[in-house]
Amino acid sequence: MFKAIEWVESPQEAIRLLDQTALPSVEKYIDIIETASLVDAIQRLVVRGAPALGASGAYGVALAMSEAARNNWTKDQLQEAIQSVRDARPTAVNLAWGVDQVRDLVPDGIEAVLTAAHLIAEADVANNKKLSELGADWILKKTGKDKVRVITHCNTGGLATVGWGTALGIIRELHDRGALEIVYADETRPLLQGARLTSWELKQLGIDHFVEADGAASSTILRGLVDVAIIGADRITANGDTANKVGSVALALACQRAGIPFVVAAPASTVDLDTATGDGIHIELRTDSEVHEFQGMRATPEGVKGFNPAFDVTPFDLISAIATENGVAEPATANDPRVMETVVTR
Ligand code: MRU
Repeated sequence: MFKAIEWVESPQEAIRLLDQTALPSVEKYIDIIETASLVDAIQRLVVRGAPALGASGAYGVALAMSEAARNNWTKDQLQEAIQSVRDARPTAVNLAWGVDQVRDLVPDGIEAVLTAAHLIAEADVANNKKLSELGADWILKKTGKDKVRVITHCNTGGLATVGWGTALGIIRELHDRGALEIVYADETRPLLQGARLTSWELKQLGIDHFVEADGAASSTILRGLVDVAIIGADRITANGDTANKVGSVALALACQRAGIPFVVAAPASTVDLDTATGDGIHIELRTDSEVHEFQGMRATPEGVKGFNPAFDVTPFDLISAIATENGVAEPATANDPRVMETVVTR
């Protein structure tokens, strides 16, 4: 079984990452020993997915302390390095959350920070399993079906988390219960997290699936080929608005029209009660070369402009359910838009 992220002590203190840019053709691990390399790895999506970024944030603080000790950094240099990890990507709240969970422990030493980071990592797996059970229960009850056909977007499995997965965790849970018929995995342009990563995970798990072009998704829903859409989240605001990989909102709109549930799955650490609505979410704008090029080959005419927002926001009233480890909230039907408070305990 692979591990997307873990802390290792030998041959030296490092964060070991499964390089997700090389998958599915090459499975290689890299040891990160410098904060600047971690920031680079986060920005290049060597490690990615909101919960995995949460663990990266927490372990990143330990990494900065290890580097500080080797290089006799000042306190200011250490704090700058920690801040650079926190700011490496803006949309997934988990990254800043992970840093903030352990930052106050810095004066207590690296062991204290590592103990807290390990607890965050362990809790992520347990939380994902819990939310997967709750999400699967909700979906089977809501659809009234013994077996469901699912559409999903991006990658939300063990690669995007410390283990098990969120939306893909629910899919695994349904599969384990014998309640899954088929999965449609959107390829997820431009970086193909669905085609490269979700398909790689589903294949390993023996889960029957199609990979489809993103442009096929709304038609797959409207033609009645799926019973439910399940996606992950990078940030869920106090009213339930949800940022996730660009293309997610198109699924939500199609689900509303088709009258099938659109389910968001995320640990409570993805819920940002300090941000009122999706309008307050900083959407990462990535380099337009990701849109222009396909596997290093230019696909658009030289000189034209590209637009590459990495995420979009699905308004709460298009979301049938948000499954966290603390329960399932139904923002589309709840009278109180601040419904997320009911499933967040920190
Ligand atoms: O740019 P990425 O690959 O980090 O985007 C990831 C997503 O949008 C995921 O759906 C989200 O982080 C949830 S991962 C469990």
